[in-house]
Amino acid sequence: MKVLFLDGTIIGNKTGAVLEMVRSYIEETGCGYELEILKLADYTHQFVDGRPASDYNDDMKKLVHKFNEADGYIVATPVFQGSIPGVLKNVFDMLHPHTMRYKPVSIVANGGTYQHHLVIENQLKPILDYFRCLVTPNYVYTHRSHFDRDNNIIDNDVHDRLRELARVFVKYAEMSKRLSKDALDDD
Ligand SMILES: Cc1cc2nc3c(=O)[nH]c(=O)nc-3n(C[C@H](O)[C@H](O)[C@H](O)COP(=O)(O)O)c2cc1C
Repeated sequence: MKVLFLDGTIIGNKTGAVLEMVRSYIEETGCGYELEILKLADYTHQFVDGRPASDYNDDMKKLVHKFNEADGYIVATPVFQGSIPGVLKNVFDMLHPHTMRYKPVSIVANGGTYQHHLVIENQLKPILDYFRCLVTPNYVYTHRSHFDRDNNIIDNDVHDRLRELARVFVKYAEMSKRLSKDALDDD
């Protein structure tokens, strides 16, 4: 089982810090999965504009490949303008609708205000539902007050929620192994 840890932003550090923490907690479960961090900041992005897939640059093709070969995903995103960053939506736009079908996904998000935790429910989950992902009921929203100056998470409740997210993600991943990715309908 390969799990892709997606750092869905090209600016900022807290999203990546939360992602690293989730990786540690998933490792701690002893699941033995292959865990890989993918930072969108390391890629040269092109707008998805309907051109043939072969006409995109190597980085865009590599992103698609990484998503295709993964069996599950941890998606980490900052909140931008009450939604997800455009660069992250652009990557989702690049994927075939079946890419993430029936694969487990957990979400972590970071925002500058407490008021925007429901951005996960209203903006990101509908996209993952469209992809028919197995989205865990747990997600974790962090705010700058949960970090110290070096972006270490200093809030114990956040650590507990991340540990619980890791535990449930592994259960969903095991369930996904037994769920055929072929669908009877053709959508
Ligand atoms: C363009 C932009 C828009 C933002 N919009 C929001 C927003 O609507 N709601 C919010 O809570 N935080 C918003 N933020 C704050 C980011 O979510 C925050 O900077 C991010 O989670 C990462 O923190 P870091 O830059 O310290 O790593 C915005 C930041 C930027 C750069």
